[in-house]
Amino acid sequence: MALANTDTSMQLGDPECPECGGRGYFLSRKDFSVQVDITPCECREKYQLKQLITASNMSDNLRQKGFKNFKVTPKTKAMFDMAYKYVKRHEELIKAGKGLAITGSVGVGKTHILAAVANNLLAKKIPVCFVNTPDLIAELRQAQFSSNKHEYERKIRALSKVAVVIFDDLAKEKVKDFAREQYYRIINHRYEHRKATMFSSNCTLDELAEKLGDATTSRLVAMTKDWFVHIEAEDYRVMGE
Ligand SMILES: Nc1ncnc2c1ncn2[C@@H]1O[C@H](COP(=O)(O)OP(=O)(O)O)[C@@H](O)[C@H]1O
Ligand SMILES: [Mg+2]
Ligand SMILES: [Zn+2]
Repeated sequence: MALANTDTSMQLGDPECPECGGRGYFLSRKDFSVQVDITPCECREKYQLKQLITASNMSDNLRQKGFKNFKVTPKTKAMFDMAYKYVKRHEELIKAGKGLAITGSVGVGKTHILAAVANNLLAKKIPVCFVNTPDLIAELRQAQFSSNKHEYERKIRALSKVAVVIFDDLAKEKVKDFAREQYYRIINHRYEHRKATMFSSNCTLDELAEKLGDATTSRLVAMTKDWFVHIEAEDYRVMGE
């Protein structure tokens, strides 16, 4: 998983753009005026959105998940409604550092719904990082023990800074000391800086506390207060349409 730099403020235009050649803007000056006008190039908006999508780390499969292609059932309605309401109120909620939390059984659409949230936020140009949590831990471990220490710090920094982070399948793996420390470091940073943090997990909150420790779990609970749902339903993959 590539945790790309999510700061797109410095990346102006599409390097392939025939109009601006990647500068992302045009300068013009009226006859004898000292004032220079800056006109943004049309490529810019599309390019920046593309950068955000790359930085979000979402696969093509996840990019297809939306509210429209989710079939709401009585048992999944609470999850759907909560996520939908979150997107509607995202501005205020992201500012307040609030995120969604979905726990429950396998195949009920937790990942689908969080991906739908991510896709909606990306469409509004909000930097989101969608994290497959077991993969992240494996990568951090590899980076930590490689000779390139910068890579490890860069990944941690990227996850601490980005506006919204979604930890999908939190604590799915067997959480050892190393992972517990990484979770604490990232989650504590986001908690202290009121950064919107979301998660899905097959674990109950008690199991999360057991695996991640009370300090990390209590911060996650605080960050998702009023936006927490637990779903027990049939596995959609088994049930089919
Ligand atoms: N209610 C639903 N409507 C449409 N597709 C669904 C629904 N629930 C699950 N799916 C699909 O079933 C698959 C498994 O769902 P997923 O979100 O991965 O479940 P979970 O993360 O809860 O294990 C995904 O491809 C998802 O898009
Ligand atoms: Mg899932
Ligand atoms: Zn251009």
